[in-house]
Amino acid sequence: MVDTRISRLLCEYLVDPLGIDEIEPRLSWRIESARRGARQVAYRVRVASARERLARGEADLWDTGRIESSQTTQVAYRGAALASRLACFWSVEIWDETGAAVNSAPAVWTMGLLEPSDWTARWIAADPEIVRRDPGAVVPTLTEPGTPGCFRREFAVSGAVRRATIYVSARGLVEVRLGGRRVGEDLLVPEWTDYGKRIHYRTYDVAALLASGPNVIDVTLGDGWWSGYVGWQEQRGRHGSLENSLLLQLELDLADGRRLVVASDRSWRCATGPIISSDLMMGELYDARRAPSDWRPAREVDAPGVPLVAQRSEPVRLAETLVPVSAKEIRPGAWIYDLGQNISGWVRLRVEAAAGTRIQLRHGERLSADGSLYTANLRRAKATDGYVCRGGGVETFEPHFTFHGFQFVELTGLPGPPRPDAVTGCVVHSAAPHAGRFSCSRAEVNRLWLNGLWSQRDNFISVPTDCPQRDERLGWMGDAQVFFRTATCNMNVAAFFTKWMIDVEDAQTPEGVFPDVAPRPREDINFVGLGNLGGAAGWADAGIIIPYMFWRVYGDLRLVARHWGAMVKWLDWIERHNPDGLRLNLLGNNYGDWLCIPSDTSFGTHSPMKNLLATAYWADDAAKMARLARELGREAEAGRFQAMFERVRTAFKREWLRPDGELAVATQTAYLLALAFDLLPEDVRSRAAERLVEDIRGLDWHLSTGFIGISHLNPILTLTGHAGVAYRLLLRESHPSWLFPVMQGATTIWERWDSWTLAGGFHPDNMNSFNHYSLGSVGEWLFRHVAGIELDPEAAGYQRFVLRPFIGEGLDFARASYQSPHGEIASHWRREGDRLSWSVTVPPNTSAQVFIPSEPGTEVDSDGLALAGREGRFARCAAPSGAYIFSSVCRP
Ligand code: BGC
Repeated sequence: MVDTRISRLLCEYLVDPLGIDEIEPRLSWRIESARRGARQVAYRVRVASARERLARGEADLWDTGRIESSQTTQVAYRGAALASRLACFWSVEIWDETGAAVNSAPAVWTMGLLEPSDWTARWIAADPEIVRRDPGAVVPTLTEPGTPGCFRREFAVSGAVRRATIYVSARGLVEVRLGGRRVGEDLLVPEWTDYGKRIHYRTYDVAALLASGPNVIDVTLGDGWWSGYVGWQEQRGRHGSLENSLLLQLELDLADGRRLVVASDRSWRCATGPIISSDLMMGELYDARRAPSDWRPAREVDAPGVPLVAQRSEPVRLAETLVPVSAKEIRPGAWIYDLGQNISGWVRLRVEAAAGTRIQLRHGERLSADGSLYTANLRRAKATDGYVCRGGGVETFEPHFTFHGFQFVELTGLPGPPRPDAVTGCVVHSAAPHAGRFSCSRAEVNRLWLNGLWSQRDNFISVPTDCPQRDERLGWMGDAQVFFRTATCNMNVAAFFTKWMIDVEDAQTPEGVFPDVAPRPREDINFVGLGNLGGAAGWADAGIIIPYMFWRVYGDLRLVARHWGAMVKWLDWIERHNPDGLRLNLLGNNYGDWLCIPSDTSFGTHSPMKNLLATAYWADDAAKMARLARELGREAEAGRFQAMFERVRTAFKREWLRPDGELAVATQTAYLLALAFDLLPEDVRSRAAERLVEDIRGLDWHLSTGFIGISHLNPILTLTGHAGVAYRLLLRESHPSWLFPVMQGATTIWERWDSWTLAGGFHPDNMNSFNHYSLGSVGEWLFRHVAGIELDPEAAGYQRFVLRPFIGEGLDFARASYQSPHGEIASHWRREGDRLSWSVTVPPNTSAQVFIPSEPGTEVDSDGLALAGREGRFARCAAPSGAYIFSSVCRP
């Protein structure tokens, strides 16, 4: 009996995506089997233009024939040209090592509208008259409300419909309904992009929503990132015109072969509706007594001069709902709810009150000492939703075009006590699938890991943001870069970062400078000009670090190849401006080791530490580029970047390495970068690592690193032979430490080590987010070195990987699982006295180099695998796919 199965068929990292515009989409699948050594020896992909065809084995679009290969990821489509609207049904057949052939179930992708001429729809906007008029009976709470427009078009369907597809885009955010029912479950559509470079459209299969006879499409159009408040801007709408507009094309393929198109144009009507105002930062005001009326013709407006591109990552969705853990009336009529978890999203409100009753919801991450909502750290984000009741029964409200970062909600305006189910927390984020789980014998460490995951979920909303609550919420590159590896451990972020890397390149200046935030918050940002949001060491460098790490984790070189030109341009720019091999005279910012201790939050100024940091990153960029160039077969560039690395490394040593082997700038982060980026001569490395440990010891075993240093701290300590120190730092509870916020009840990662302290309360600066993932980058270490699930130093993408846990004092067990591109890798060790028992799973079609922690000279049970020697305190063996249990003698 064959126990091999094929699962998780993906196209461009997505399950059955609709409306893609990739003309050589890459396909992947997973092999499932419990058999040791299970692997694929050959595959055959078939792609057909109809489901029935595929079922009959008629692969009219592409048939690879049998290909002798173990490849299961990123098999690029090379069949017949893919035209707009084409539906592609595909399956894969594989042969395993026993010779058995196995077929997958069918999967599908469809092509979007690839040519501008495919769009017959026109961009339409509301009649400015209706938006200018006082939009309602209630006075908006916002100074400058963005009043969403409502658009409507009726049409009739006669005859059977074979396929019905909506393609929709907007300058703004849309919610589409067909026959009163919501089209898709996606939220905040379309996603945030650099609107000066491209705008997304979305594709929906709406066959199930159509009725025969009369139908109606309703679209509500809000501001979103297009015209609302973005970052800390003083005014709404920086993307050219303030006006929101939409584009919608419904295509009905009838059974008789006709195609009926209902497209946005001036035949559509517009009005304002129940949403009085809505803004991502400010919140939403909704008057349930109002329905759109007084319809007027919509206006056709100019199409944007930039391409429309298909959505290419998981959409923003409602991920889960939370029931509050407590509700308290803090003054008459004012109720504070605690969700027990800091989230991004909003409240689903349920009330029963007289028509015209005005309810207000304010959101905050923390409470002040007196029990009231703490909102100082929101800065100008009002984060306030308002709801005016319709009356006559239970009413449910959720806002449409806003989101808040909050754990606590203040509810006011009800004449009596709220219903028990008045408040439900709705958790909203980009729907990237979960990939990893971690737990160990210390509950606080488990909470720390979970806090990192929550901060990731709360901040991965269309783009990776710094924080979800205050008037910022920007795609800060440094934050994304330091957290990237952790992010990949927690969730499958391949599609998410494929999309964001396009935002990054879109924001690059013509001179080659990568931004500090992407998408650019303003259209007119060029880096010498306004904002100077470009070129910062450790931030702009994400333009190289992320493609590199993306390749390491997902084995994807296409992403690198696509951005290669931009990456080269960036390094050329650095080189042009820093002729001596020291990165000193950047025109952009230098945030240094942001929020380290003692921290220096001045932006553009130079200091020896900032110069060292910038130079170190330059060297590392060059080393990464040299490696990637080799992978891409670009030998000449590999040589050039290798030479660049050597030159910068030499300059680094000349400038900062003292004859006694110490660094002239002796911070923890300086040592970490020098070690992590291989900037020191071999004979000095162990001395440098000892200096780092001495510094930590001198601070009574505390860290002093900020955003930059922290991601390297425990991995580098571990890899330089100081895993015990890393464990000690992990388990430290006193400030500054990872567990300090956990001990204070944190449910997400804080922006600062001391965002709140017992003695001082809230940090005095109002740049004080309680949901900033950067300092949570230790998650990567929990997977890589505590559980021991590590990338192979040579091979990318986990088809070959390493299992090597470092057992430290303070934990009795650790357990992690990780959904790699090839299936679940698992590691679970437990220590009793000096006996170690360790079970692992190596997924089918992969192999692992296993390092069993063990004392030299003692017995190791390697579960039938041949031992291949020792490396210090590890016994080595090679494991084909399968599940194993090892045991050994091991002292931390
Ligand atoms: C953001 C950070 C960011 C930093 C750069 C802050 O305002 O919140 O996360 O990396 O600026 O200096």
